[in-house]
Amino acid sequence: MTALLQVEDLKVAYGKIEAVKGISFSVEAGQIVTLIGTNGAGKTTTLRTLSGLLKPSGGKIFFDGQPLNGVPAHKIVSMGLAHSPEGRRIFPRLTIAENLQLGAFLRRDPAGIERDIQRAYELFPILGERRRQAAGTLSGGEQQMLAMGRALMSQPKLLMLDEPSMGLSPIMMQRIVETIGELKAQGTTILLVEQNAQAALSLADEGHVMEIGKIVLSGSGQDLLHDESVRKAYLGED
Ligand SMILES: Nc1ncnc2c1ncn2[C@@H]1O[C@H](COP(=O)(O)OP(=O)(O)O)[C@@H](O)[C@H]1O
Ligand SMILES: [Mg+2]
Repeated sequence: MTALLQVEDLKVAYGKIEAVKGISFSVEAGQIVTLIGTNGAGKTTTLRTLSGLLKPSGGKIFFDGQPLNGVPAHKIVSMGLAHSPEGRRIFPRLTIAENLQLGAFLRRDPAGIERDIQRAYELFPILGERRRQAAGTLSGGEQQMLAMGRALMSQPKLLMLDEPSMGLSPIMMQRIVETIGELKAQGTTILLVEQNAQAALSLADEGHVMEIGKIVLSGSGQDLLHDESVRKAYLGED
């Protein structure tokens, strides 16, 4: 079986600075795969490149059997790759409902869009309760829910989440972790980027540890969770 996403020797540079230095990994349909690593490791750069927002300086990307190199970002969304960006990037003055509608901007099936908005409200009831409120009035955790709901509105085959737990209280983080688990149970394939290694590895089928632009360790989520070097470097143990 070919993987849903296949990344081969991907390199990405900002001018002369190479932020991603040749990484390879794949995501099979139905899996949660996580990229973990400290600030500056190249995780966000990787996701932005997969989304078509940055151009790779080397390597190949295949999604759902098609090459992604040179494909514009909007086309990549329509192929089924959705990105919930670092820092949420919701539209604070628009209502929650309007933010969700924007996630469906490439779709032309009003009935299906309405059904998926209802699905987002089922997944995150707070979004339904506040649907007519400006999104900027939501708490950080609620904005994260909106960012995830908006990404799901494009009916993705693969959902990429960039640090969904960033800046959240432990309770809110738990809620987001549970939702990622629910999405997987419903059949969504997820590429999860996190600095919070504990949460990410406990959810993941497979994980890759990134350090300054390279993958330095790969394994099942459970194996990495119990790996001594990972525990020391990322889980605050000594
Ligand atoms: N727009 C940019 N211009 C120049 N360098 C950048 C830019 N964005 C990120 N970088 C650099 O690329 C490296 C990887 O950053 P990033 O992908 O954001 O890491 P992570 O998401 O793992 O924290 C870092 O050294 C960072 O300073
Ligand atoms: Mg980042």
